[in-house]
Amino acid sequence: MTDELTQLARRFPTDFIWGSATASYQIEGAWNEDGKGESIWDRFAHTPGKILNGDTGDTACDHFHRWREDVALMRELGLQAYRFSISWPRILPQGRGQVNRAGLDFYERLVDALLEAGIMPFVTLYHWDLPQALQDAGGWPNRDTTEAFVEYTGHVTRLLGDRVRFWATFNEPFCSAWLGYWEGVHAPGHQDLDEMLAAGHHLLLAHGLALPVIRENVKQAQAGIVLNLTPQYPASESEADRLAARERDGQINRWYLDPLSGRGYPQDMVSAYARPMDFVHAGDMEIIARPVDFLGINHYTRAVVRSQAVDESQNLPAAVFPGPEYTDMGWEVYPPGLYDLLIRLQREYDFPSLYITENGAAFADVVSADGSVHDMQRIDYLRRYLAAAADALQAGVPLRGYFVWSFLDNFEWAFGYSKRFGIVHVDFETLVRRPKDSALWYRDLIRIHQTVQSPGDQGLTSPLWR
Ligand code: FCB
Repeated sequence: MTDELTQLARRFPTDFIWGSATASYQIEGAWNEDGKGESIWDRFAHTPGKILNGDTGDTACDHFHRWREDVALMRELGLQAYRFSISWPRILPQGRGQVNRAGLDFYERLVDALLEAGIMPFVTLYHWDLPQALQDAGGWPNRDTTEAFVEYTGHVTRLLGDRVRFWATFNEPFCSAWLGYWEGVHAPGHQDLDEMLAAGHHLLLAHGLALPVIRENVKQAQAGIVLNLTPQYPASESEADRLAARERDGQINRWYLDPLSGRGYPQDMVSAYARPMDFVHAGDMEIIARPVDFLGINHYTRAVVRSQAVDESQNLPAAVFPGPEYTDMGWEVYPPGLYDLLIRLQREYDFPSLYITENGAAFADVVSADGSVHDMQRIDYLRRYLAAAADALQAGVPLRGYFVWSFLDNFEWAFGYSKRFGIVHVDFETLVRRPKDSALWYRDLIRIHQTVQSPGDQGLTSPLWR
């Protein structure tokens, strides 16, 4: 075991950053405490029928009250970085205007405790909990929301810019736009293609508009955005399957990667959507393409795409099949997908550095009689995905860090508490935290990594955050 960990650890450069991630609505609870305003996720989860078992984030992991304990646990596990998001309606209960000092205080205390523990804070400004007041004014399909986001970014970065270097504007704009305004399975639960397209554009625009604000308020800022990227493999070499995979890739991956890289929206997709794009104003695409310091990648699985447009019998026989292993989300375990993705990002795009800002797996964990959680499948998943990341590093991909999703079991959106992604188990009755075997495995990996010298090292030993 230790030998295997040593071999894995050796494959990462000394200054590689090991962390874990969460998001405000999924862990904080205290949904209406200390002056916090309502968010679209409060509203959505309080609407009957939207979330499995009627679960809500009202209490979640109660991190809002237990953050000291949580930071202490991160320290025990030796995490070097912690990616968390800030709840916009805790800072600006109405989305803009009046600031809630108690909200700022909460994050200031959290950041100070992290620094005190030697853990680098990695902040996401928006992980889906838009203030409801802004949704009432039209939400992301309304261009004014971009200005509100800039105002919010100003407040937070002015407060924390002297202590936090790493800032991600948005988490997974695809999910906000597609799941929230088109499929309707996430807040605010709309199903309107034009709203989806406008929302996606305004999320990207708000990102570009916020970048100079971050740079103005943050010393040595590292500013970027986090995308969910899922490679799409055609099931056969037929033209129909190839085109179907290409279209899905366009919806999920290229629609965001291309504009951020200065290429505008992919033409094939603009034609496929065939909708008016009058929400794109002159100059917008230049703002969206402002250079970032990093791209954050959330990656869990791959998809194998079979064309639905042709009769199966007229298509070529499928040659690519999803494998036999799945997580509790029904997502295929396919580590080569991460390798392929990282190589593609390097070949086809040009981001100066990459972080895996989320990767991990949900399994139906049980607490054993001895009080431990023997989550061998999760350890196996993490080990194999990290080996794929190491292969990509070896091929020259500028990967700088890795964040396991998630630090705690938490509120998994429309699935409520039914999916456990944490390396730390949470009993949602008692809120007791228990590091799973995967947390101890990760702790050991980080420890060993600190003691071994990777062959790829060029004498980089000083941690970036100190
Ligand atoms: C991502 C989200 C994160 C979590 C994981 C499983 O899409 O960013 O909040 O729910 O999926």
